Amino acid sequence: MARRPLVMGNWKLNGNKAFTKELIEGLKKELADVKGCGVAIAPPVMYLAEAEVALAGQDVIALGSQNVDLNVSGAFTGDISTEMLKDFGAKYIIIGHSERRTYHKESDEFIAKKFAALKTAGLVPVLCIGETESENEAGQTEAVVSRQLDAVLDTLGAEAFNGAVIAYEPVWAIGTGKSATPAQAQAVHAFIRGHIAKKSQAVADQVIIQYGGSVNDANAAELFTQPDIDGALVGGASLKAPAFAVIVKAAEKAKA
Ligand code: 13P
Repeated sequence: MARRPLVMGNWKLNGNKAFTKELIEGLKKELADVKGCGVAIAPPVMYLAEAEVALAGQDVIALGSQNVDLNVSGAFTGDISTEMLKDFGAKYIIIGHSERRTYHKESDEFIAKKFAALKTAGLVPVLCIGETESENEAGQTEAVVSRQLDAVLDTLGAEAFNGAVIAYEPVWAIGTGKSATPAQAQAVHAFIRGHIAKKSQAVADQVIIQYGGSVNDANAAELFTQPDIDGALVGGASLKAPAFAVIVKAAEKAKA
C-alpha cells in the first residue's frame, strides 16, 4: 500500500537565529515544488519562534521539535510542554533519540509516556529506536527494537501508531558516516513493520518507518528503493539546504 514518504531534518544542537532564518529561506527555495514527500524540520526549541515566522505562508515544510517533556504546566523547571510546541505550530516531535537515551538516561517506559502525551495533544510522535554497535554485533538488533516498540505497544496498543512515525536509527550509524546498507536497513524495517503487524496489520501498513544514520545526498536514493524505508531522519546533512533538498527529492522520486 502506498505510504507518503516523510523526510525530516533533526538539527540537533546547531545554529542560531540568523542560521535558522537563512537555512529555512534556502529550504523554501529548494523545495517549493515538492508534492510527493512530506518534509519537516526540527530546529533547536530555542529557535521555534524564528522558524515559525520563516515558514509562514507555505505548506511544504512542517515544523517539529527534537524533544518534549511530560507535564503540561506547573512547577517543572526547564521543561517544555506539548502545548508550548503546539503554540509555535510544531507538529512532528522526535522522542527517544539515542542521544537522549544515552546522555539523559531516558528509559523505554519514560519515552512511552512521552508518546502518550503527544497523542493526547494531537501531535505526531517520531519514535526513534535502534541498537548500539555492540548489540548489533551480538545479534540483538531484533530483540532491542522489539523491546523499544513494546514499551509503547504494551501500554498504548497498536492503534497508538496510527498516524505516528518510527525512525529506525542504528546508533552505530549516527554521525559516523557509516550508514546501514539499504539491504541491512530494509531487513530491520521489515521486522519492525512485522512486529506491529502481529497486533494490527492495518496499523503496520500505514505507519511511516524512516531510516536515520549518516543519510546524505549521495546514499539517500538507494536507501529509498527499499519497500519498507518510507523516508529519512537526517542529522548532519539537514544543515545544508542543497543536500537536504536532494534527499527529499530522492524520496519523492523513489516513492512516486
Ligand atoms: P546523522 O544524519 O548526522 O548521522 O544523524 C542522524 C540522526 O541522529 C538523526 O536523528
